[in-house]
Amino acid sequence: MTSPDPEPGTPAAVVVRLAEVGRRHGDGAGAVHALKGVSLDVAAGELVAVMGPSGSGKSTLLNLAGGLDRPTSGDVEVEGVALAGLPAADLAALRRRNVGYVFQDLNLIPSLTAAENVMLPRELDGVRTARAREEARAALEEVGADDLADRFPEEMSGGQRQRVAIARALVGERRLLLADEPTGAVDTLVGDEILGILRGRAEAGAAVLVVTHEPRYAAWADRVVFLKDGRLVDSAAAGLVSAR
Ligand SMILES: Nc1ncnc2c1ncn2[C@@H]1O[C@H](COP(=O)(O)OP(=O)(O)OP(=O)(O)O)[C@@H](O)[C@H]1O
Ligand SMILES: [Mg+2]
Repeated sequence: MTSPDPEPGTPAAVVVRLAEVGRRHGDGAGAVHALKGVSLDVAAGELVAVMGPSGSGKSTLLNLAGGLDRPTSGDVEVEGVALAGLPAADLAALRRRNVGYVFQDLNLIPSLTAAENVMLPRELDGVRTARAREEARAALEEVGADDLADRFPEEMSGGQRQRVAIARALVGERRLLLADEPTGAVDTLVGDEILGILRGRAEAGAAVLVVTHEPRYAAWADRVVFLKDGRLVDSAAAGLVSAR
């Protein structure tokens, strides 16, 4: 292609592809099948909401999509690269460069300030400190948390920590954003703001997967997928109102 922009009508590139992915914990009678033969493509520009009851495999799906966990069956590709064949160091590099992750329990580092937490993935990827600091400032501003830059996680409210964790996922313009209940600790006003930010990143070309329990937030998505007992089920069959 001569132009970086796809021709009108050209399907957007698949950023993450799960093909018949399964994840089993343990063996034999005590084995837990967290995910069973799940296939899902998320394209650039797309925001997909993942819904389903507690224990249905939502976090497992996100962890596999981002290469934080490896499937026990099936294949995961990010930007056309099969994760199964990658050495650990290459997988870590691909994750740092391409994947922004908002963890269900946030995982901010307590001994680092908000700005330092947001800078960290960029510094690990070799970006110079001054530039990483500037990127962190911009990401914190994007989530309305620029005033928290010098605070430590224990000095912030749950919702403030949430914003900082989201800034850390946004920094560096990563192509795949995975957000596990990013609205967990916030009221609906802030929740809508967070979904609006993720939506904006999708519009800018990222592929976004968001786990949520709330139909309200799923309405921001292009598509809703529903997990039940580790399997993808049709969202209509699951009784969900279709998004938008
Ligand atoms: N390390 C593990 N060992 C054994 N079982 C596990 C492990 N991790 C997850 N599971 C099981 O896999 C299933 C799916 O877990 P997962 O965390 O993906 O659910 P979830 O949909 O994200 O739930 P929630 O909404 O409560 O966050 C659950 O039955 C869980 O107990
Ligand atoms: Mg979960």
